[in-house]
Amino acid sequence: MPVIGLGTWQLTKDTTGTVQQALEMDYPMIDTAVDYGTQPAIGEAMHRSGTRPEDVYIVTKVEENEDAYDGTVRDLDELDLDYVDLMLIHRPPGRSPGHELWEGLIRAREDGLTRDIGVSNYSVDQLEELVDASGEVPAVNQIEWTPFGWNSHMLDYCRDREIVIQAYSPLTRTERLDDRRLNEIAASYDKTPAQLLIRWDLQLGVVPIPKANDPAHLAENLDVFDFEISDEHMEELNRLNEHWSSLGQSPMYE
Ligand SMILES: NC(=O)c1ccc[n+]([C@@H]2O[C@H](COP(=O)([O-])OP(=O)(O)OC[C@H]3O[C@@H](n4cnc5c(N)ncnc54)[C@H](OP(=O)(O)O)[C@@H]3O)[C@@H](O)[C@H]2O)c1
Repeated sequence: MPVIGLGTWQLTKDTTGTVQQALEMDYPMIDTAVDYGTQPAIGEAMHRSGTRPEDVYIVTKVEENEDAYDGTVRDLDELDLDYVDLMLIHRPPGRSPGHELWEGLIRAREDGLTRDIGVSNYSVDQLEELVDASGEVPAVNQIEWTPFGWNSHMLDYCRDREIVIQAYSPLTRTERLDDRRLNEIAASYDKTPAQLLIRWDLQLGVVPIPKANDPAHLAENLDVFDFEISDEHMEELNRLNEHWSSLGQSPMYE
C-alpha cells in the first residue's frame, strides 16, 4: 500500500482536473467514497491521464446502511473500474462493528471486486469484535489522526495486528495550521506546517491522505521525503495531543 494518498472529500472545484493533475504528479493513491460525489470524476481523470488501474491505488467505501456487496458494485460502476484496491466500511453501524457488512466485503473480495478490505472510524473494541467473529483482520482502519488528536492504544493495537492506520483530515482541515509550536518546528526544517504534519504521520508508520484543491498544495504535500523529524521533535509533536477533532468532539473512534 502506498505511504500517502490524495483525499477527495469536498474536492469539488474542478474535481476531474485536480485529480488528473495529482495523477500526473504521481500521487500513488486516491481516497474516495460514494457520498463525496467524486467517484465519476476520478474515473474520468484516470481515463484522461491514461492512468491504468494498476498504476494507482484506489480506496473507496460502502456506507453503513447499505448492502456492502451491492455498494461495492455501485462504486465500481461510478468509478468505471472492474476492481478497486481497498474497500472500507465507512463507519460502524452504531455500536456494532457490522458483521453483515463485513461478510459482504469478504464476498466482494472473493469475487475480485476489491483487492483488500478494511474499515473506517472503528474503535479498538469494534476492531476486536470484528476480528474475533470473522477471523479476518481489516487491512486498514481509516481514522482522524493528527498530533492534536491521536491515540497510543489504537496505534499499539494496529501495529500488533498489522492493521494500517490511514490518517484522515491529517492537516486538521487547516484549523490548527497556525499552532505556534507546529510553525516553529516546521520552520526549523524549512518546511511548512502542513508538510510537518504529513511527515509526522510517515514517521509513525501512519498513511496520510491530505486533500488539496490548490495545485501548489498538491505539490507541497508530496514534497515530504527529503527531511526527517528528530526524535525530540517527534516526541514534542506527540505531546500536542489533546484528543482534538475537527468534528468538534473527540475523534469518532474513541
Ligand atoms: N473516512 C472518513 O470518515 C473520512 C472523514 C473525513 C475525511 N476523510 C478523507 O480524508 C481526506 C482528508 O481529510 P480532509 O479533507 O477532511 O482534511 P485535510 O486534508 O486535513 O485538509 C484539507 C484542507 O487543507 C488545505 N490544504 C491542503 N494542503 C495544504 C497545504 N499544503 N497548506 C495549507 N493548506 C492545505 C486544503 O485546501 P485546498 O483544498 O484549497 O488546497 C483543504 O482546505 C478527505 O478528503 C477524505 O478523502 C475520510
